[in-house]
Amino acid sequence: MVRAARLSNQPQTMMAPTKQQVLDSLAKIAGPDGTPLPSSGKLSDVMVSDGKVFFSITVDAAAVQAWEQVRDRAEAAVRAVPGVQSAMVALTAERIATARPPGPQGARPAAPAAPAGARAAASPTGVPGVEAIIAVASGKGGVGKSTTAVNLALGLRDLGLKVGILDADIYGPSLPKLLAIREKPQTAGGTRLKPIMRYGLTAMSIGFLIDEETPMIWRGPMVISALTQMLREVEWGALDVMVVDMPPGTGDAQLTMAQQVPLKGAVIVSTPQDLALIDARRGIAMFRKVNVPVLGIIENMSYFLCPQCGTRSDIFSHGGARHEAERLGVPFLGEVPLHMDIREKSDAGLPVVATAPDGPLAAVYRDVAAKVIEQLKGPTRPPPKIVIEE
Ligand SMILES: Nc1ncnc2c1ncn2[C@@H]1O[C@H](COP(=O)(O)OP(=O)(O)O)[C@@H](O)[C@H]1O
Ligand SMILES: [Mg+2]
Repeated sequence: MVRAARLSNQPQTMMAPTKQQVLDSLAKIAGPDGTPLPSSGKLSDVMVSDGKVFFSITVDAAAVQAWEQVRDRAEAAVRAVPGVQSAMVALTAERIATARPPGPQGARPAAPAAPAGARAAASPTGVPGVEAIIAVASGKGGVGKSTTAVNLALGLRDLGLKVGILDADIYGPSLPKLLAIREKPQTAGGTRLKPIMRYGLTAMSIGFLIDEETPMIWRGPMVISALTQMLREVEWGALDVMVVDMPPGTGDAQLTMAQQVPLKGAVIVSTPQDLALIDARRGIAMFRKVNVPVLGIIENMSYFLCPQCGTRSDIFSHGGARHEAERLGVPFLGEVPLHMDIREKSDAGLPVVATAPDGPLAAVYRDVAAKVIEQLKGPTRPPPKIVIEE
C-alpha cells in the first residue's frame, strides 16, 4: 500500500530506499542479548547508495559465532526493504580492529595491548586456494596505480598464471571502469559472492556493489570489514596470484589494510617526479613497518613514446624511481611510458595488455610482470620483525 502511494506521488524516487527504512528494518533484528541492532552500539554507519546497502557489525571476538546468525538475519531484513538491490553486512571482531580507534578520542575501547611479539604471530591468515597476494600501492593518488595493477595482472596472466584482481581502493574503486564491468556480482549461497571474470582475470571491487560516483565517507572499521569480506567471502577459486589495488596513501587506513591482507609482497608505483618519489618512499616505509617485502618500484609515465613513430623521448627527467630504488635497496621493476593508448584504452575498459597484446606497451607490462614473478620466487625475504603499533 505504501509502495502504491509512493508510486503515484514520487515516481522517480520510488526505488531508492532511505537509510531510515534500512534502520527500521534492522530494529526488528535483535542481537544475542535481545537488544535491537540499531540500539546495540554495534552498528557502523549505514551506507545506502542507489539501492545498495552496506554496513558492518563490530562485536567482541569471543562472540563472533553467536553473531553470525544475527548478521544473516540483518542482511535478509535489509534485502527485504523495497528498492534494496544488494546488501552487504560485514561482521568484524573488535580485537582485530585497527590500532587506533576511529572517532575524535577513540569512541571504542582500544584492543588490549598485545605483548611485544604477539603481533607478528597474529599475522593475517591466507586466502584458501590463493598462492600469493601482492599489493600494488602508491604514496598518493593519480600516479597510475590502478592502470598499472590491471595491466600487471594481465601481464602475469600472459605468463601463464591464474590471476585475480581485488580492488581494495575503497575510496575510489577503479575496476568497474578499467575492466568495463557493469554487472553486479551474484551471490553463491548464503553471504558468499561470485567474482566477475574479465579478460581471464577473476575480479572483485567494492565498486561492483556501490556506485563509483557516490562520494563516501568511510569510517575506519567499515573500510577494513569491506576489505575482509571481499577477501574472504568471495569465491576466488584457485589462483596463482591475486593483485590487490590498494588505496593510495600511507595513513592509518592503508597501514591497517596492509596488515589485514596476508601479503607476499608489495609493488610501489611512482611517477618520476620528486614529489611522487617522496610518497613512494613513505609507501616503502609503510610496508617495511608491517614486514611486507617490497618487491620493487615501477616508474609510471616515465618517458614519452611517440604514438606515430614509436620513438622514445625522455621529456621528463625520468629515472628518478630507478635511482630511488637503488638508494633504498629495493628492486626496480621497470619503466612504463606515458602513452595515449594506455590512457584511452584503460578509461574505455580495454586495457592494452588485453586488447593490443602484440604491441610495445603490452610487452612493457609483461616485462614488469616477469620481474615481479622473479621477485616472488627470489630469496629476498627479510626475517619477521616485531611490529610495534602506535
Ligand atoms: N602510463 C600511462 N600513460 C598515459 N596515461 C596513464 C598512464 N598510467 C595511467 N594513466 C592515466 O592516468 C590517470 C590516473 O591513473 P589511475 O590508474 O587511475 O591512477 P591511480 O589509481 O593511481 O589514481 C588515468 O586517466 C589513466 O588512464
Ligand atoms: Mg586508482
